[in-house]
Amino acid sequence: MIDILQLVPLRPEVQKELEARYRIHQKADFEKVAGIVRGCVTNGHSGPPTEWIDRMPKLEIIGSASVGYDGIPVEYARSKGIPVTNTPEVLNDDVADLAIALMIMTARRLVVTDRYVRSGRWPKEGEHPLASRASGKRVGILGMGRIGKEIGKRAEAMNNKIAYHSRRPVTDVSWKHYPSLVELAKNSDFLVVIIPSTPETQKIVGKDVIEALGPNGILVNVARGAVVDEDALVAGLVSGKLGGAGLDVFANEPQVPEVLFGMDNVVLQPHVGSATHETRRAMSQLVLDNLDAHFAGKPLLTEIR
Ligand code: 8YV
Repeated sequence: MIDILQLVPLRPEVQKELEARYRIHQKADFEKVAGIVRGCVTNGHSGPPTEWIDRMPKLEIIGSASVGYDGIPVEYARSKGIPVTNTPEVLNDDVADLAIALMIMTARRLVVTDRYVRSGRWPKEGEHPLASRASGKRVGILGMGRIGKEIGKRAEAMNNKIAYHSRRPVTDVSWKHYPSLVELAKNSDFLVVIIPSTPETQKIVGKDVIEALGPNGILVNVARGAVVDEDALVAGLVSGKLGGAGLDVFANEPQVPEVLFGMDNVVLQPHVGSATHETRRAMSQLVLDNLDAHFAGKPLLTEIR
């Protein structure tokens, strides 16, 4: 049987299949098994670090149950001839759905109004104060990859006007491309962030972008906390220079700046973009399918290139 180091569990039904086909070793046993493992199962936040890769001389493949891979030294692995696979496409709908949900929840203050009902305030205090529309607005998207396109389609179906910023214009969408992110923010009511975290994109949403979005603007982040300057974001919300934020990701997860907890114009989620039974199962399956393909000598399904 082929030995696999598993840094994160897969969904139980897929985990069962994995264990039937491979000899699985857990992270805690790394020291014991580093010399024999030929595959590694992980996700975008869990490594393995370069030192571990160096200590696994038989490692042939790393399979990540995530689309993002900022926590995996992909270039390094590739330089040693070890391919890395991820799970693109299967989570597009869920992440796009969450982006739209955060737009609506934040603009319409749905967390606050839910609390208004549950706490029994409605009968006592009457009609809740008004909120803002999430349709018929200008939606700027930072990043126009697979998920960005799904967000654009959904936001457009809500009669929003879509524009985007990416390094280069994307050929298969007709939405307006802004070469400048600040200009996009200036011309948006919502700015939805869906770019990968890379050395180039760290804190790309900084004070200038946040202030360009402005006191009526809403920032939605379903990408990675690292691409937003979180101090500038908090400062913008505290000062009122930014209108609101719907956040699924944070700079230092699971830590979230506590000052956000008391803000009615902020909706907070614990990194659940892909967190449905259906999607996490499909992600797990794709990890296993890539391992199977590799060890059967077949082409990988979703190698990161
Ligand atoms: C999860 C994600 O956080 O795919 C990604 O890049 O951020 C999420 O799907 C994660 O990888 C769960 O395993």
